[in-house]
Amino acid sequence: MISEKNGVFELSNSEISYILRVNEYGFLENVYFGKKIEYTESIKNSTVGRGHEIHPAGYPNAPAIGNFAFEYSTPFRGDYRTHAIGFSYEKSGIRGDDFKYSSYRTIEKDFSSPLPKCRGGQTLEITLKSTCGLEVKLFYTVYDDVNAVVRSALIENFSNGAVELNRAYSFNLDMPNDDYDLSGLFGAYLRERNIEKSKLTRGIKTIDSKRGESSAIANPFVALSTFGATEEKGDVYAFNLIYSGNFEFNVELDEFDGVRVNGGVSSFDFGYRLDRGESFETPEVALVFSDGGFGKASRTFHDLYREYLINENFVKKPRPIVINNWEVTAFDFTEEKLKRLADVAAETGMDALVLDDGWFGNRNDDTTSLGDWYINEKRLPNGLKPVSDYCHKKGLKFGLWFEPEMISPVSNLISRHPEWAVRSPDVTPCLGRNQLTIDFSNPDVTDYIIDIISSHVVNDGLDYIKWDMNRPMSEYFSSSLGSERQKEFSYRYILGLYKTLKTITERFPNLLIEGCAAGGCRFDAGILRYCPQIWTSDDTDAFYRENIQYGTSFCYPLSTISNHVSASPNHQTGRSICLESRANVALLGVLGYELDITKFNESEKNAVRQINERYKKDCKLILEGDLYRYNKEGLKVETVVSKDKKQALLKAVYGLKGLSVSANRVKLVGLSSDKKYKVVETGEIYYGSALINRGFILPQAKVDFDTFIFRFEQTE
Ligand code: GLA
Repeated sequence: MISEKNGVFELSNSEISYILRVNEYGFLENVYFGKKIEYTESIKNSTVGRGHEIHPAGYPNAPAIGNFAFEYSTPFRGDYRTHAIGFSYEKSGIRGDDFKYSSYRTIEKDFSSPLPKCRGGQTLEITLKSTCGLEVKLFYTVYDDVNAVVRSALIENFSNGAVELNRAYSFNLDMPNDDYDLSGLFGAYLRERNIEKSKLTRGIKTIDSKRGESSAIANPFVALSTFGATEEKGDVYAFNLIYSGNFEFNVELDEFDGVRVNGGVSSFDFGYRLDRGESFETPEVALVFSDGGFGKASRTFHDLYREYLINENFVKKPRPIVINNWEVTAFDFTEEKLKRLADVAAETGMDALVLDDGWFGNRNDDTTSLGDWYINEKRLPNGLKPVSDYCHKKGLKFGLWFEPEMISPVSNLISRHPEWAVRSPDVTPCLGRNQLTIDFSNPDVTDYIIDIISSHVVNDGLDYIKWDMNRPMSEYFSSSLGSERQKEFSYRYILGLYKTLKTITERFPNLLIEGCAAGGCRFDAGILRYCPQIWTSDDTDAFYRENIQYGTSFCYPLSTISNHVSASPNHQTGRSICLESRANVALLGVLGYELDITKFNESEKNAVRQINERYKKDCKLILEGDLYRYNKEGLKVETVVSKDKKQALLKAVYGLKGLSVSANRVKLVGLSSDKKYKVVETGEIYYGSALINRGFILPQAKVDFDTFIFRFEQTE
């Protein structure tokens, strides 16, 4: 609900309030964000006047401006905290100005740009005007059924000349400190998204990416939690940017115990020129409040993204169980080998064959051919169609790997279009995995990519695409932009990416696109708008993989987390883990396979058939249910509970087997306390109240990396 009275805006649902106020000096301030409260005029911000400080222009006796709770903060006007906008007027050189409240209205959101945006809810637009002609529109979307506020900004130039933006964040939130800890999802290639918590201390903590992708190093996610907050207890404020490129979040604890959180597109190498009448649109950011710890915060993100962001054609549909040939054959496949994989896939209840890297150009290793998206005739003399037709006859879908954002220095495409590679003129470019990025900020490039992918979808009968991206950016340079606009490159690139994905998904609404960036190096809500699932990591060792999936679930729903059962011993770690445990780890997410199933004996095929049957039975619960986590040294438990609380699926994953250890008791807090539940695997019956308060006792691990799955069904 959105209401306005005397310059006070209340955005609320039955659980949260977000309250704004136009203060005496015309600035838009945050009054409160958190658990639902009732507002009266007596609620004021605790701004104080102080010596040796700056006061709002025209109000020398007003409180110091440095602790106003700005909803959008500006530099060079006495607020020394990290600002949300930075600009310079071309003619005058002016870089500081006040942005004061001008007007508000509720609006229908504009979905014409390809920037991913959350659907639904109610949206408030507040316009702030500066003295010299820049205007900022702040957008706030609130939902009756999700405890999140989705924010973004539009910066418009109404001055007489050009303005150069050097920062344009999506939001700014100032609030009092409450002994907060700060958490983020940090990692690296092959060990993505581990939750790390530390005390919020004085100064500025910046979480960012300068790699041209949201990155495995730091996900665009940050959370503040009250001291001692756990999975189910404590207040958590969590922020997630719906964007796939360079980003930054700053969390600043100031000298008066105020906390400022702001962020958006990274200001690293950012400049954006606005001629008169032009505007800059920021990505959206989701602000989540939870009074039930990290678990409730995660469930809120999951609900928000499943209901209002992710590609609606797929988000709630059962996903195909795929066999992917990459960890089976790498580049060394033939039509015959692919057909044999399809045979066993169909026999064991899988739904799709995905042909990975190597089907195009002269690609026999990773040194050539990216960009040459035509058949590698040496490898597939009859083309893709026979494989695709074969799959379709067997009742399987057919998927194909592309790395559309790349170009190999050894390729036909680069000979035809050297200007399409992202590199600085006259400077030797840096390579990553022997390749260069192709310039998605250039519409000629994105048109080419859209056409070539579309022709494969039509001619080769594609049902599925794996969209990969295997190197971060280094040189930020586009031959299609003038020298005065080079700092717009990284933002325009991501816009080009979204435009391409939007066009393809609109043109082929039944085409499922799985996101991927060297595994999970670009796992973010922006990609999820168009790709309902993302290959989570190139690390397929079940034990490590569990950590990655567990961390990923802090922000992203299980329906987005694509997991494959791979070979044992594992390719990357050499670790041996039995098939049942590898499958159990992969089960809570989008299940697939990436191992040579043609070598399976009958009993292994049977086992896989059963795993797939179970997955299909539980798929709806896994994709749509509420996730509860439990974590202690050597044990991770994830439980998905159906929205009606009638069913639950518990997965327990042990590390090294301990000896003489105590029993592990997991409290299943998501169940209904007054209902009875049957444990399908054991036949035991418990009241929900017992499972919630006394807990369910897990079996001990019999071997290292043991796993267990239990299904709970309401009996009455
Ligand atoms: C990346 C992906 C892998 C595979 C290879 C192919 O590493 O993450 O899954 O597709 O590229 O080159």
